[in-house]
Amino acid sequence: MADIKRQIETWVRQAAVTALGEGGDTDPLLRPSKDPKFGDYQANLAMSLAKTLGKKPREIGEQIADCLRQSESGAAFEMIEVAGPGFINLKLTREALNRSVREMFDDDRLGVPEKASPEIVVVDYSSPNLAKEMHIGHLRSSIIGDAICRVLTLGGDMVIRQNHLGDWGTQFGMLLEHLIDTVWDKDAEHSIGDLNALYQDAKSRFDADPAFADRSRRRVVALQAGDEQSLVLWRQLIAESVRHMSHVYQKLELLLEAGDIRPESFYNSRLTAVVDDLRAAAVLVEDQGARVVFAEGFKNKEGDPLPLIVQKSDGGFGYAATDLAAVRFRVSELAATRIVYVVDARQADHFAQVFWTLRHAGWVAPTTQLEHVAFGTILGEDKRPFRTRSGGTVRLEEVLDEATERALKIIADKNPDLPAAEQRELAAAVGIGAVKYADLSSERIKDYVFDWQRMLAL
Ligand code: ARG
Repeated sequence: MADIKRQIETWVRQAAVTALGEGGDTDPLLRPSKDPKFGDYQANLAMSLAKTLGKKPREIGEQIADCLRQSESGAAFEMIEVAGPGFINLKLTREALNRSVREMFDDDRLGVPEKASPEIVVVDYSSPNLAKEMHIGHLRSSIIGDAICRVLTLGGDMVIRQNHLGDWGTQFGMLLEHLIDTVWDKDAEHSIGDLNALYQDAKSRFDADPAFADRSRRRVVALQAGDEQSLVLWRQLIAESVRHMSHVYQKLELLLEAGDIRPESFYNSRLTAVVDDLRAAAVLVEDQGARVVFAEGFKNKEGDPLPLIVQKSDGGFGYAATDLAAVRFRVSELAATRIVYVVDARQADHFAQVFWTLRHAGWVAPTTQLEHVAFGTILGEDKRPFRTRSGGTVRLEEVLDEATERALKIIADKNPDLPAAEQRELAAAVGIGAVKYADLSSERIKDYVFDWQRMLAL
C-alpha cells in the first residue's frame, strides 16, 4: 500500500510544519511498525529534528503528535502516540484502511506506471524437469514468474513467456534404459503415478549399478543423436508429463499455455554451433576431454577455477549449452532486449557463468538485459526443505488440493446454506489464492516456512 504511506507522510510533514514552522519541513522518516502492538507506522523525524533545532526529541514528538491529532487528517487515525525517545506511533482506523484499499482497486492500473519505452521481454519460468511429477519446488518459479509477466504486460512490455522444460537431460538416459530393460507396454495408457514409480526405480538402479549408469549416459548421447528407438519411448514419456503439468497449471490458473513450451530438446540442433562459435570466439577451453568455459572469478569449494561445462567428454551436451543456445534464439529470433530467468537461488552461479560467457563471446548487445530473478527455498516446520513425513518430495498437486479442501471446510462452516457447487468454487479461489499470497508476500530471495495456519488465516 504505497499510496497510503505517501499520504501519511504528507500529513505528518504538514503537522510538523504547523508545530515547528519551516524547520519542520523535512522527511518524516515513516517506517512500517515492527510489531502491530505499536500500530501500523512509526514516524522517526523527531529524533533528527531535535538535533537541528536543539530541543528534546520527546518534546518535539509530542508537539507534532498534537498538531496531527488536531488536524483534519487526525480522524484517519485510531491512535497517535509518542513512545520512547520520540517515536510517533500511528494506527489507522479501519475506515481509512478500507478507503485506501478501495481506491487501489478502483485504479485499473493497480499502481503500475506505463513505460516510456516498452521492450520485448522473455520471461523464462516454471520450466520443470519432465518425467517426474511436479513437486513443491516448482511452485515459486510458476507463481513469481506469472506475477512478473502480468506486471510487465501492464507496464506495456511485450512479454514472451518461455517454459524451458527439462525434457532432454541425463535423467532421460536412465529412464529410457530402465524402460527398455523392463516391460513397458507401449500401447497401454500410462499415468503420472507410473512415471513417478518408474523414476524412483530407475534412480535407485542408477545409483547402485555403475554398469547401468554407464549405459544410461550412453543412452542420452544416443537420444541426442536422434536414435529412433530412444525417441519413440521418449515421446511417450514427454506426452504424459506434459498432460500432468497442464493439469497443475490449470489449477494454479497460470498464464502459461502449450504454445509457451519451448523445451531443451528444441535447441538440440543448435548445440554444435554453440561449441564451434565459442571456440571461434576463443572463450572455450578443452579440459580433461570436456569443453568448458572458465568464467572469471568463479571458484569451487577447493578454490580451483569452476568450469561451465558446455560439452562433456562423452560428447553429451550439458544444461549450459542449451541455455547458451536459448539466449541466441531469444535475442535473434524472438528479438528480446531483456531476458528474465525466474529460477531457484541455488542456480545463481550457473546463470552468472552463462551471462559472463555470452558477454565475452559478444553474443548479446551490451544493452540487452540478462537477469536472474532468484528465490529462496520453501521449508517445512523443521526449517529444512519441505518434505513429506517419509522424507519424499511434496507433490505440488497434493498441496493445491489440500489448500482447497481446507478452505472448503472453513467456507462450509461459515456459510452452510451456500449451494455445494458454489462452496467448491469459492474454496478453490480462496485455497489456491492463499497459497499464492503466502508465496508472493514473502520476501522473494529468502527461504520461507510453509505453514497452513498462516496461509489460510482469513
Ligand atoms: N529445468 C530447470 C530445473 O528444474 C530449470 C530451468 C530454468 N530455465 C533455464 N533456462 N535454465 O532446475
